Amino acid sequence: MKIIVTGGAGFIGGNFVHMMLEKYPDYSIICLDNLTYAGNMETLSPVMDNPKFKFIKADIADRAAVYKIFEDEKPDILVNFAAESHVDRSIEDPGIFIQTNVVGTGVLLDACRKYGITRYHQVSTDEVYGDLPLDRPDLFFTEDTPLHTSSPYSSSKAGADLLVMSYHRTFGLPVTISRCSNNYGPYHFPEKLIPLIIANALAEKQLPVYGKGENVRDWLYVEDHCHAIDLIIHNGRVGEVYNIGGHNERTNLQVVKTIIKELGKSEDLITYVTDRLGHDMRYAIDPTKIHDELGWEPTTLFDEGIKKTVKWYLENKSWWENIISGEYQSYYKKMYSDR
Ligand code: NAD
Ligand code: DAU
Repeated sequence: MKIIVTGGAGFIGGNFVHMMLEKYPDYSIICLDNLTYAGNMETLSPVMDNPKFKFIKADIADRAAVYKIFEDEKPDILVNFAAESHVDRSIEDPGIFIQTNVVGTGVLLDACRKYGITRYHQVSTDEVYGDLPLDRPDLFFTEDTPLHTSSPYSSSKAGADLLVMSYHRTFGLPVTISRCSNNYGPYHFPEKLIPLIIANALAEKQLPVYGKGENVRDWLYVEDHCHAIDLIIHNGRVGEVYNIGGHNERTNLQVVKTIIKELGKSEDLITYVTDRLGHDMRYAIDPTKIHDELGWEPTTLFDEGIKKTVKWYLENKSWWENIISGEYQSYYKKMYSDR
C-alpha cells in the first residue's frame, strides 16, 4: 500500500505520518509538501531515515509537479491535509487560501482521476458548518448541517469539499471527507491558541484573548483525529462525510486558565484584545456516525491531553523556539500590536 500524505510537514499531517509509519510498517508513505511557513522538516526528522518514508517538496496547486509525482509513484491512496489553515491569516490575505485550498484540491482531484486511485480523502473542518449559538447547548453539527461559512478560510475549505463531492458524483472518484473540530497536541504551530498561550506564558508575556474569551471550541487530541482518518480510509464508505469530535467543549478563557494553572503562572497575564472579525461563537461536533459505523472513539480526555501537550512543549523547546525566533516575530507584531 502506498499513501501520499499532502501537508505532512504540518501539525496534523506530521502526526499522521508518524502514526501510519509506526502502525503499518509495510506501507510506503510519501509526504508531499511545499514547506510554507507552517511546514517544518524538523517535524519529520524522526522518520527521515525510515526506508518506507519519502519526502517530496511540491505545491499541490502545481499541476505538472503533481502529475509527475503520480506518474512516478502510482499511489493507492491520497490523504489531503495540505492547506492554509489559520483563520486570522485568511482575514489578512484571502488569496493564498483560495489558491491552495480550492485550486490545489482541484489539481489533486484531477491527478487522481487521470492516474486512478483507490481512495481520495479530504481532511476538512467543522468550520464549514459556521457556528452555533452559545444559548443552545443542545445543538451540534451533524453531517447534514448545511454549509454556512464565516471566514475566507472556512469558505475555501467548503469550496474544496464541494469540489471533492462533485468529482465523486460526476466522475465516480472514490472519495471520503472528514470534518474535525479543533485539534491540539505536539507539533502545533505557535500561531494557534494553545501553543501560543503556552509559549507566551513561559516567557511571562501577555496572553491575548479575543473579545471576552467566551467563544467555545470542541478540542480533540491530534492522535484521536489521526486514528479516525486511518479508520475512514480503510473502512469508510465512499462518497460519505464523517464528522470527528470528542464532546470536549471549552470556552477560550477556560483553555487559557487551564494552561496557566498547568504552568504555575499568573492569570494577570491574560489580556483581552480586539475580537477576530466574524468570529465564530461555538463549534460542537456530533460524532455519532463515525462512532456507530466505524467504532471510532476518542481516547484522550482534555485534562490528560492538555497535560501531555504542555509537557511536550516543555521537552521540545527547540522545535518551537526555532519557529518563534524567525519570521514569526513580524507576524506576531503585525497581528497583535494594533489589537
Ligand atoms: P498546518 O498549517 O499546521 O499545516 C499545513 C501544511 O500544509 C504545512 O506543512 C504546509 O507547508 C503545507 N502546505 C500548505 N500549502 C501547501 C501547498 N500549496 N502545497 C503543498 N503543501 C502545502 O495545518 P494543520 O493544522 O495541520 O491542518 C491540516 C489540515 O487539517 C488542513 O486541511 C486543515 O484545514 C484541517 N483541519 C485542521 C484542524 C486544526 O485544528 N488544526 C482541525 C480540522 C481540520
Ligand atoms: O475547528 C477547526 C479549526 O480549528 C481548523 O479548521 C483550523 O485550521 C484551526 O486553525 C482551528 O481554527 P480556530 O480559529 O478555532 O483556532 P485558533 O487556534 O486560531 O483559535 C481558537 C480560538 O481562540 C478562537 O476562538 C480564537 C481564539 N484566539 C486565538 C488566538 C490565536 C484567541 O483568543 N487569541 C489568540 O491569540
